[in-house]
Amino acid sequence: MHVFTVAAALVSIFSLSAAAPTIEKRQDVDTEAGQVTICTGANNSGDCSTKTYKSNECNILPAPYYQNVLTFAPGHQILCRVTNSQDSCTTHGDLFIQYPGSTQFDNYNGINYSNMTSFLCQKCTNCP
Ligand SMILES: *[C@@H]1O[C@H](CO)[C@@H](O)[C@H](O)[C@H]1NC(C)=O
Ligand SMILES: *[C@@H]1O[C@H](CO)[C@@H](O)[C@H](O)[C@H]1NC(C)=O
Ligand SMILES: *[C@@H]1O[C@H](CO)[C@@H](O)[C@H](O)[C@H]1NC(C)=O
Repeated sequence: MHVFTVAAALVSIFSLSAAAPTIEKRQDVDTEAGQVTICTGANNSGDCSTKTYKSNECNILPAPYYQNVLTFAPGHQILCRVTNSQDSCTTHGDLFIQYPGSTQFDNYNGINYSNMTSFLCQKCTNCP
């Protein structure tokens, strides 16, 4: 009886530690980073989409937004890395952007990011 209990306890400890990394990873991805509004036109015009994005997950833009973004507006306390140099998110991205983002993304600090393909965001409590 006693031996049985110890064995059962050991089994649950082992299954817990084996499961732990998977659970942490899943929680990380499931964490919401926050909202981003994306539009094909400047000043929130054209086709627009406002969605809540998960943390640390690469989002490849679907049509009609793929390489066709003039408004990229993260909400509060979310930081996004935008990639326009490759087909999918690069490690650092080409641009870090936070609230209020840009409503003239073909001229953001003099650079044309309207052909962005993808972005990855994370929650940022130090961000505006
Ligand atoms: C967006 O707003 C800016 C500043 O008000 C203006 O100069 C620009 O013409 C507008 N663009 C469009 C496409 O509405
Ligand atoms: C987007 O435009 C930039 C600058 O014109 C260019 O260097 C880059 O290769 C383009 N990205 C894609 C995915 O075509
Ligand atoms: C920005 O880049 C896109 C695609 O690369 C191009 O069609 C557009 O004319 C450019 N806009 C400006 C203002 O240079």
